[in-house]
Amino acid sequence: MNVNQEQKKQRHPDRRKLWGRAKGKRLSPHQTSLMENLLPQLRALPSPLENFEPNQRVTLEIGFGGGEHLLHLARRFPDEGFIGAEPFLNGVAKTLNGISNDGLKNIRIHHGDVSMVLQALPDACLERIYILYPDPWPKPRHYKRRLIQEEFIAELFRVLKPNAELRFASDIVSYVDWALARILRHGGFLWRANSAADWLTPYKNWPSTRYEAKAFREGRTPHYFTFIKGKLPSEIKRDK
Ligand SMILES: C[S@@+](CC[C@H](N)C(=O)[O-])C[C@H]1O[C@@H](n2cnc3c(N)ncnc32)[C@H](O)[C@@H]1O
Repeated sequence: MNVNQEQKKQRHPDRRKLWGRAKGKRLSPHQTSLMENLLPQLRALPSPLENFEPNQRVTLEIGFGGGEHLLHLARRFPDEGFIGAEPFLNGVAKTLNGISNDGLKNIRIHHGDVSMVLQALPDACLERIYILYPDPWPKPRHYKRRLIQEEFIAELFRVLKPNAELRFASDIVSYVDWALARILRHGGFLWRANSAADWLTPYKNWPSTRYEAKAFREGRTPHYFTFIKGKLPSEIKRDK
């Protein structure tokens, strides 16, 4: 399938509507070649875990943008597996360029909506999920476009292993409030923050991302959250 067919496939009516930018400026011939030749070898679908060892630790990054953080993780943990989902064509092409330059073998990519990847994952298979600077959709009439919604959180919970981590970062206060309220209301995630220093301190070995750099340039404060997958209240009652 070529790049245009790939784009059309994303508008197929049985997929959830994607709201962000699908593509930016024209790809270079090298990037087009990576999309046509390298991407098919790295596809995360239909079986996201197929190319990883049964006991390998696997992390999912949702909306990896230009791939800065995904590439950083894959270089740092060569024995672990990484799945990235991103609908923005130019971000995928940029990331493929990084994968190719560094000869990385531990990344699988889905060019499109992460929901497709989540649906294809079995229960309790991921070590960690990152959602870094998701599109904030700040106008109330656009809140329904936000990635973090109740059903989505339930899917994240399903695919995480017990005690695995969900990491979410954002510089938009209304989205931080929105996400925190929904993640905590779910009831299965533990948030162990004691003070503001906890969510104002970047993650260990944090490489930053393009959108974080934009937040700093525009004077906004990044917030970093880590939630641990615990038990659902119904499971706790059953255990008593
Ligand atoms: C504001 S950008 C942040 C990119 C990157 N994480 C960073 O920090 O630089 C949000 C990204 O989420 C992606 N995105 C939006 N909806 C998505 C979805 N349903 N599945 C996967 N990625 C999505 C967008 O295409 C965009 O690249």
